[in-house]
Amino acid sequence: MSDAARRTMRAAVTTYHGGPEAVELRDVPVPETGPGEVLVRVAAAGCNNTDLWTREGSYAASADDADARGGWLGPLDFPRVQGGDVAGRVVALGSGVDGELDGARVLVDPLLYDWPVPGDPDSALPADVLGSERDGGFAEHVVVPAACVHRVDDSPLTDVELGALPIAYGTALGMLERGGVTAERGAGRTVLVTGASGGVGLAAVQLATARGARVVAVSSGDKVAPVAEAGADVVVDRRRGHLLDDLRDAAPDGYDTVVDVVAGATVGPGLRMLRPGARWVVAGALDGWRVELDVRTLYLANAALVGSTMHTPTIFGRLVDLARSGAVRPVVTATYPLDRLAEAHTALERREHVGKIVVVP
Ligand SMILES: NC(=O)c1ccc[n+]([C@@H]2O[C@H](COP(=O)([O-])OP(=O)(O)OC[C@H]3O[C@@H](n4cnc5c(N)ncnc54)[C@H](OP(=O)(O)O)[C@@H]3O)[C@@H](O)[C@H]2O)c1
Repeated sequence: MSDAARRTMRAAVTTYHGGPEAVELRDVPVPETGPGEVLVRVAAAGCNNTDLWTREGSYAASADDADARGGWLGPLDFPRVQGGDVAGRVVALGSGVDGELDGARVLVDPLLYDWPVPGDPDSALPADVLGSERDGGFAEHVVVPAACVHRVDDSPLTDVELGALPIAYGTALGMLERGGVTAERGAGRTVLVTGASGGVGLAAVQLATARGARVVAVSSGDKVAPVAEAGADVVVDRRRGHLLDDLRDAAPDGYDTVVDVVAGATVGPGLRMLRPGARWVVAGALDGWRVELDVRTLYLANAALVGSTMHTPTIFGRLVDLARSGAVRPVVTATYPLDRLAEAHTALERREHVGKIVVVP
């Protein structure tokens, strides 16, 4: 039977905000394509921290209401198939879609965008996220707008490697670009990457190295060696207990860019290590989202503290180019079948891994 003719599929369905028990493996109808949409047979779907936070509803918690539950962009509709990272093949087309896409091997941009500044591609903001506001890739099939799929037919990357790219590598590329580590200006910059063994951090290490930057990375224990293998020039072990001193020793002339997913207590004193005109780009707060800083460390150095979330269409386009050429090869530490998604998420939560965990439906 052809993919399009199949009526049901296996899907991991999140039924409420909670732990892994909130996710059920079900037989559900294969979703139908609407106008301008395509049906993708999922070959690989990467796991991300956002899957855990969205499942738990942790995005809505705040200092005022620690028990609030909700998705990143607002309340979530249940049941919901999560999974924002999708690589696969187009197996059915909605009306109005170019017939040449039929059968194409594709990488899916997980975002639909808002355009606060019409016509300015750099102003694009995430308005709707695959696996959060609409059903995602932890299933055998997913329907997405045709505008979100990018052909990668001849990419030398495996499906599993492609499935590791969108959120982690898109976020890392977004942070680097917003931090001035561009293809043209990356060479020679000294870049600090925190959380460097994780999905986003390791991607940042690889991408910054590929752009010719000198990379100082923060990791811990057994993960230090693989982070160095991924290209970091120096890896500081945060468990030694002398993080700030070690970071100063690793870059006595200071940092041009900081790619930070950890935040917390390091931000305030860390800003003193920036070179004039430097950028501290933050996209996560694993060590705490309340930080104290002396604003003089910013304005007297013409430095910038930059918030960064995921990518823009332009940045995703650059990621697709990297996928097509295979210029960066994502590090995948483990794969799990769909019926072991809960194990994949528990492994992600333990944070003993290096790089990405990918589900193969
Ligand atoms: N804003 C966005 O668009 C966006 C997108 C993706 C992810 N994120 C956020 O970015 C963060 C990282 O995501 P990820 O997928 O890369 O996570 P991950 O794969 O779980 O990796 C995180 C790594 O950070 C380090 N770490 C964890 N807790 C820490 C702490 N308290 N202090 C210092 N280091 C700590 C650990 O590495 P070591 O033990 O090796 O140090 C850990 O392996 C998460 O908070 C996620 O929600 C944001």
